[in-house]
Amino acid sequence: MAKMQNLFSLTKKKENISAQTYPDTSKHISSRPRHIAIIMDGSGRWATKRHMPRLAGHKAGVTALRRTVECAANENIELLSVYAFSTENWGRPRAEVDGLMRLLWESLRAHLADLHRDGVRLRHLGRLQNLSPDIQQAVRDSVELTRNNTRIGLNVCFNYGGRAELVDAIRQIIADGRCPESITEELIASYLYTRDLPDPDLVIRTAGEMRVSNFLLWQSAYSEYYATPTLWPDFGHEDLLDALYSYSQRKRHFGHRTSADDES
Ligand code: FPP
Repeated sequence: MAKMQNLFSLTKKKENISAQTYPDTSKHISSRPRHIAIIMDGSGRWATKRHMPRLAGHKAGVTALRRTVECAANENIELLSVYAFSTENWGRPRAEVDGLMRLLWESLRAHLADLHRDGVRLRHLGRLQNLSPDIQQAVRDSVELTRNNTRIGLNVCFNYGGRAELVDAIRQIIADGRCPESITEELIASYLYTRDLPDPDLVIRTAGEMRVSNFLLWQSAYSEYYATPTLWPDFGHEDLLDALYSYSQRKRHFGHRTSADDES
């Protein structure tokens, strides 16, 4: 653990540079997303390439996550949502599932104090009730401790599935006795895990994959999408700036177009 913490502080120093130092000065980032969501893919491949067990890749993924939270906060991003364990990931080999569960628990225990010190507000998105009691408690404690932090919000999607989220919402809507006429997009959104959060403006997927993988299905209806070949454990400040630059080049219409859009 001490080795891992040293690694964190080293990376933090190296990565802690402001937007103005983006090496390619022609790449001016004119508009920024409020909310970035990340599908952290490629940790298994990262480990396999190094002849290491897959779990070593996931551990390196936690380091990359800590680094990315710091970079995103320094880039004035308000919210970061990360896909750490999907409802489908239960289908992985038992040892990997157990390892990911342990990693969540250990990561919260090891990094909660510094996340709190650094102004990170933690939140969990997903089905907490299916996780072990000690994990549920660690998650609740972390959310409670950091609830008033304002530098950046970190939403950890753990045991999260976009379809499961809709199922949970629909069950609750029915349980609340809502009549069909009252069902609107706003009402459905108010029953999602993300009820009080803005939709993600930008979804980043690492490791070159081009799939949505059941991540924030409702919320990403009009998100901009950015895929990078970088494997998640290698993701760093440059990768984040590349994604921010790409985002700032996009024109968002949300399905509406005006004649001014056609002229530009
Ligand atoms: C997908 O890559 C990644 C996961 C299923 C786990 C992601 C989790 C982390 C990065 C760290 C966990 C974070 C916390 C907060 C505990 P993959 O395993 O499918 O990689 P591959 O496609 O290369 O096999």
